[in-house]
Amino acid sequence: MAVYVVLLGPPGAGKGTQAEILSEKLGLAHVSSGDLFRENIKNQTELGKLAKGFMDRGDLVPDDVTIAMVRERLSRPDCAKGALLDGYPRTPAQAAALSQMLNNLGGKVDVVPYIRVDEEELVRRLSGRWTCRAEGHIYHEVFNPPKQTGVCDVDGSELYQREDDKRETVQRRIHVYLDQTAPLIDYYRKEGSLVEVDGAQNIEAVTQDLLAAMPAVAGGAKA
Ligand code: AP5
Ligand code: MG
Repeated sequence: MAVYVVLLGPPGAGKGTQAEILSEKLGLAHVSSGDLFRENIKNQTELGKLAKGFMDRGDLVPDDVTIAMVRERLSRPDCAKGALLDGYPRTPAQAAALSQMLNNLGGKVDVVPYIRVDEEELVRRLSGRWTCRAEGHIYHEVFNPPKQTGVCDVDGSELYQREDDKRETVQRRIHVYLDQTAPLIDYYRKEGSLVEVDGAQNIEAVTQDLLAAMPAVAGGAKA
């Protein structure tokens, strides 16, 4: 049966970083709503044009278009074994829509690792983040630097700083997270699927704790 993991956590907690590592280890598709929006912006689609304004301000893109985008992504063949969701759901309406979508696919939300990191550390992480232009691989100038400044280790493409990583926009994103997304912590805790992980450790230690926190899913993980 397909397996669905939802990575929950504030902006900069390390969801994308961990999803990249775990999707490889667990053989699950990495489904990042933020990456899907950025791909649409790059390709200048109608969805990209609509999403850009919300993203640049640090606000959430409206639920209806976000839900439709993720529904389409989860129906693609590479999600047949399941997916690691990163950045979705972000509102109670998105969470309800996800349950429905997975139900239709014969699955459910199996586990929700919540990566806990305090606000001061989030700002440090986002202000030093560099992202790869081609595929969104993630670096940090101090905590996880590329071998060559400004160049992606994986595909050699240029690294750039995200528009929404400006200080004021980061503050806005954290506010929006606390207001609209943090209630999902309790929602999934009540459902019995939440597991908490200390995100204020180095990247490798967080990966180990994530794998240890979801033994049923991580059973067959590659070393
Ligand atoms: P999105 O792209 O999802 O951004 P986010 O949730 O704000 O999260 P980030 O990507 O900023 O952080 P992350 O947790 O992935 O951290 P990362 O691994 O990069 O969304 C962007 C926008 O799109 C939203 O604001 C919204 O407008 C829109 N959107 C997206 N999804 C939506 C939805 N469902 N509904 C509506 N709107 C939506 O790590 C951060 C940095 O820290 C990196 O530099 C990394 O190298 C470093 N780092 C990671 N782990 C560690 C560690 N353990 N120690 C030290 N440094 C670390
Ligand atoms: Mg991310």
